[in-house]
Amino acid sequence: MPIFTDNLLKGKTVLITGGATGLGKAMSVEFGNLGARIAIVSRKKENLEAACADLKAMSIEADYQVCDVRNPSQISESVSKLEETLGPINVLVNNAAGNFISRTEQLSPKAFDTVIGIVLQGSSYFSLEMGKRWIKSGMQGTILNIVATYSWTGSAYVVPSAVSKAGVLALTQSLAVEWGPKGIRSIAIAPGPMPTEGAWKNLIPDNAFEDLMKARNPMLRLGKPSELANLAAFLISDAASYINGEVITIDGGEWLKGAGQFNMLSEMPDSLWDVMKTRRGK
Ligand code: HXC
Ligand code: NAP
Repeated sequence: MPIFTDNLLKGKTVLITGGATGLGKAMSVEFGNLGARIAIVSRKKENLEAACADLKAMSIEADYQVCDVRNPSQISESVSKLEETLGPINVLVNNAAGNFISRTEQLSPKAFDTVIGIVLQGSSYFSLEMGKRWIKSGMQGTILNIVATYSWTGSAYVVPSAVSKAGVLALTQSLAVEWGPKGIRSIAIAPGPMPTEGAWKNLIPDNAFEDLMKARNPMLRLGKPSELANLAAFLISDAASYINGEVITIDGGEWLKGAGQFNMLSEMPDSLWDVMKTRRGK
């Protein structure tokens, strides 16, 4: 559903980490269709090539660099090369992630390092690279971090991801205050479950689990990548220039349902509601 003017992001060059797949690809397409130039980076050249070809077929100006976000010198080289072809980058989207479900006691230290490296260090290194460039040149910039609702609740069975996403939320809030006066906004989106190949392969054991996630969501469904992309387009646009340091949740109310003390009463049968009525005033 088109909700923005075609030129909402004209004049912006947006770099999206992990921009060739899943939610990153959905944002690449949305931002490009709204007039932005798109730079994407990740590890797999074949995915980047295919995504860039798709974007170009939609008349979107786009380029890519193979870059592991755990490697600061690859980040610096990639940004320099992308700025040569697309011009100065104004918006960074820290979207790349690695994640899997596991009992925590079965994880190795390297399993922790891997996820923390991609999510927390990767987002920190990329923010540092862009922040230094923007501050040196006096340019305004925006950092959009893709986190998760377990950034503030924590979550069993995805502990390396939860500690990393909590850190990225702290990064968002900290830089919002420190770099706000320099014209750099930091914001975050916390999506609920949205089917993507990467998330589903690594995190969703079977169809029954997917059905459970739908049933426990107040909206009784999963999210759509296009819904996230619309929110992200607004947040990186100049229309949102006074939103700084905030995390916006787009999860159909899922985490709140888990949080409220009595929310599980939505499962209570009518017969028990009738019993409770009879206790009134006693
Ligand atoms: C336990 C695991 C594991 C698993 C890997 N490891 N997978 N441990 N259970 N399922 C351990 C390995 O044994 C190894 O430790 C260490 O982690 C590194 O593994 P590698 O395979 O060498 O790592 P690498 O090739 O760098 O791949 C990174 C990855 C992989 C994270 C493991 O899954 C990946 O590339 N993911 C990218 C896509 C992705 O995860 N997307 C999901 C995003 S969704 P040892 O000690 O054995 O050597 C998301 C939010 C979802 O984040 C929220 C939903 C609501
Ligand atoms: P995805 O398609 O698997 O996206 C992850 C991306 O990160 C891939 O494009 C991957 O590309 C890239 N990546 C992984 N490791 C990297 C590294 N070391 N260096 C550079 N790039 C790397 O999954 P997704 O569902 O779209 O997830 C996107 C974001 O949304 C993530 O931050 C995730 O935590 C968040 N999120 C998703 C959901 C959901 O339900 N889908 C819910 C909450 C939050 P390469 O393999 O080519 O490197």
